[in-house]
Amino acid sequence: MKIGSFGYLWRLIPRSASKEFKDKVLCEFQSYQAYETGYRCLASALGRPDKNPGQGELERIRRLIDRRGNPAGSLSIPDCLFAAAFVSITRPHRMVEIGTGSGFSSALLACAIHLQRPDARAPCVDTLDAHAEYFGESNLPVGFDISNLIPEFPGSVRVHAPRESDFVGTLAAKDELELAFIDGNHQHPLPLLDVLRIAPYVKGGGWVLLHDIRFGTIVETARKKGVPLPYEGLFGAEWLFDEWAWNKIDGGNIGAIQLPTKKKAILRSMGTLMNSPFEVCKESYRRLRDEVREAARFCAR
Ligand SMILES: C[S@@+](CC[C@H](N)C(=O)[O-])C[C@H]1O[C@@H](n2cnc3c(N)ncnc32)[C@H](O)[C@@H]1O
Repeated sequence: MKIGSFGYLWRLIPRSASKEFKDKVLCEFQSYQAYETGYRCLASALGRPDKNPGQGELERIRRLIDRRGNPAGSLSIPDCLFAAAFVSITRPHRMVEIGTGSGFSSALLACAIHLQRPDARAPCVDTLDAHAEYFGESNLPVGFDISNLIPEFPGSVRVHAPRESDFVGTLAAKDELELAFIDGNHQHPLPLLDVLRIAPYVKGGGWVLLHDIRFGTIVETARKKGVPLPYEGLFGAEWLFDEWAWNKIDGGNIGAIQLPTKKKAILRSMGTLMNSPFEVCKESYRRLRDEVREAARFCAR
C-alpha cells in the first residue's frame, strides 16, 4: 500500500536532524538468577555502569509477579525483569502507559518507581486502555488487579479507560516524561501511531519501552515448526522496533527505543513503515493514515 502524501512531510526534515549516534544493544534477562547480569548489561547500555540493583529489589519484583492473578496477554518473567531494571536504572519520576489490561504492568512500573523514590506521594503511573473491560474477563474492569498487587500504594496508579493514545496530552506536559511504556494494540500501524502520539510528551533523549517486539516472529516460528499458537502473529511493534533508526535496546520480546534529540527526525524513519502492509481491517486504513499523518505533523512542530 502506498502512502504517497507522507513523502512531503519528511522532506521538510533536514538530514542533519536524523544524524545522531545509533546503537543497538542486546540485554536479555533469561531468569531471576540472571537479574544482576542483565542489570549490568542494561546499566552499561544506558551509560550508568555504576548503578546496581537496590537492596531487596529483585525479591520485591518477584513477590509482585507471584501475586499476579492472570498472566495471559501480560509480560513474561524476562519482560518484567527488563522493565523493572530499566526503571531502576533510569529512575523516572512518573510514567505513562498505553495498554492497561489487568493492571499488572502498571503495578510493576509503580512498584519499581517506588523502590527508587520511597518518599514520593503523588501518583507515579498514568495508564490508559481503549477498553473499560478487561479482555480476559469482561465482568472485570481494566486495572482490576492493581489493588491486589500493590495494596501498600494502590493510589500510585491512575487508570484512564476507555481512552487511546490521543489522550496522553491531558496526562503529561510537553517534554515532561523520561520514560513511557507502550503495550496496546500491536496491529501495524498502531504501535507507530502510539509512539508518534506519546513522543511530544517524552523529552528528547528519553526512552519508550515497547512490548511484543518479537510477537510476529514467535507466532510464525511456532507455526513453521508445526506447533501453531492459538492466536495470530502481529508485527506492529516488531517492525517499529526493527526500523527504529536511533539507539535501541533489545530485551527479547521487550525493547526500548530512545527518542532523538530533535523529535521531528522521527518522521524520517516512517517511510518504510507506512509502506508496510497494515494489519487492521481495510475499513480502518484511511482513518489510520489520517491519524498517523496528524500525529506526525504534531510531533514535527
Ligand atoms: C496486552 S494487553 C496489556 C497488558 C498489560 N500491559 C500487562 O502487561 O499487564 C493490551 C491492552 O491494550 C488495550 N488496547 C487495545 N487497543 C488499544 C488502543 N488502541 N489504545 C490503548 N489500549 C488499547 C487492550 O484493551 C488490552 O487491555
